[in-house]
Amino acid sequence: MAYYLGVDIGTSGTKTVLFDVRGKVIASATEEYPLYQPQNGYAEQMPEDWAQAVIHTMAAVMQKSGVDKAAVKGIGLSGQMHGLVMLDETNQVLRPSIIWCDQRTTAECEEITRRVGAEQLIAITANPALTGFTASKILWVRNHEPEIYAKCRHILLPKDYIRFILTGEYATEVSDASGMQLLDVPNRCWSETVLKALDIDPALLGKVYESPEITGYLTEDIAKQTGLQAGTPVVGGAGDNAAAAIGTGVAEDGKAFTTIGTSGVVFAHSSSISIDPKGRVHTFCCAVPGCWHVMGVTQGAGLSLKWFRDEFCLHEKETARGMGVDEYYLMDKEAERSPIGANRLLYLPYLMGERTPHLDANARGVFFGLSAMHQKRDLLRAVMEGVTYSLRDCLEVFREMEITVDQMMACGGGGSSPLWRQMLADLYHCPIQTLASTEGPALGVAILAMVGTGAYASVPEACKAIIHTGKTCSPNPNAMPIYEHYYALYRKLYPSLRKHYAELASL
Ligand code: XUL
Repeated sequence: MAYYLGVDIGTSGTKTVLFDVRGKVIASATEEYPLYQPQNGYAEQMPEDWAQAVIHTMAAVMQKSGVDKAAVKGIGLSGQMHGLVMLDETNQVLRPSIIWCDQRTTAECEEITRRVGAEQLIAITANPALTGFTASKILWVRNHEPEIYAKCRHILLPKDYIRFILTGEYATEVSDASGMQLLDVPNRCWSETVLKALDIDPALLGKVYESPEITGYLTEDIAKQTGLQAGTPVVGGAGDNAAAAIGTGVAEDGKAFTTIGTSGVVFAHSSSISIDPKGRVHTFCCAVPGCWHVMGVTQGAGLSLKWFRDEFCLHEKETARGMGVDEYYLMDKEAERSPIGANRLLYLPYLMGERTPHLDANARGVFFGLSAMHQKRDLLRAVMEGVTYSLRDCLEVFREMEITVDQMMACGGGGSSPLWRQMLADLYHCPIQTLASTEGPALGVAILAMVGTGAYASVPEACKAIIHTGKTCSPNPNAMPIYEHYYALYRKLYPSLRKHYAELASL
């Protein structure tokens, strides 16, 4: 039997999973690491933490599984997108990585739009200049830390830094590279026009591959540290969302998924390129060669609930520990005791600014309608509903773009909550399906490794053989109209706050 490793370098931690060629989980390991927020709106992580977590979890998985290292035929990498890793000429990390949810680059986004031109930028990179994307982070370092920029010889994304550690290659692949804002997304190659306009040396960037292609081979040194075999192929892999798409079988037109992880994403596959002229959703190359996807992003989805848990749910955490259950399970039960609308309490999930549909780095979270009668359960429910309203906003943009969704899957930590899935079904007005496997991105990139090393002929063929759907959650006709009233009010709140957010940011 042949085995494949999927490694997902996420924001809260790295998860490494060993699968057999049918997608069965053989062993898995996770390791967490910190997120640093030195200022309001800043978000950084240490690339060295990711590397350690990858090496430790690979070693743990190999040890747990007892699988012969020669039977591991390929490795796929998935990771949080957009983060900036800069290396000097001796390949040392020059500064902490400025990651996807960092919002410090509003001025640099204006600079990008000025240098490239708003229309040309959307035509080439398929997106307007966004604070989350890598290009504005590169310009921020050049503008604020010129001594560091001068020493920079290589620019890599988080999972591509790990590829460098594993194989010694400077490379990326189309799905993650799309989020750098330096890729010609329709033509799937670096854009000379954008690089020239931004005065970024193309030699700083890695070689671009399609996601299933082999990009390098495991070095002797890493093989020794992990118990894997030197020379094991490492394929391109994918940004976490494109990877989750493969891991949920979203590899054909009509298929879509919603993931509630740290961020929330609504993602639809598209075999032809489709760009929102207002730039409210992203268009990226996807992990199926020659195809794209459209994707709306809620910055603070699972992040909102995690924030609430860490700041206000100490008691639930302790009770959960005592009962031996997951704390989110208890929080779910608590939220279920509050009615739809959380006793007239609304939450705007903009803790880290917002992308779809507002594209506003200054937006921040709000509880609207707080009353002395509210209990913690109402706040919890309001947080979950607010995130779901924001995900519905993403779907509304897809509908405007006439992107057809026939099948919607739910995944990510939040997707495993029955309450959250019901909210999605009631607000999307369509059934929400789950999957037999919950490994999402790790499975997705293991599948890419299977395709890249010849176990399957194509990504859609591998998905058909490996991905099986689980339970379906149907919309509740009694709940739908009630949610619609709250959603209509939710839609009115951001426009009335927009100018006050800007004022708050200027204080
Ligand atoms: C996508 C995005 C996030 C990160 C976090 O554009 O920024 O989904 O990839 O994992």
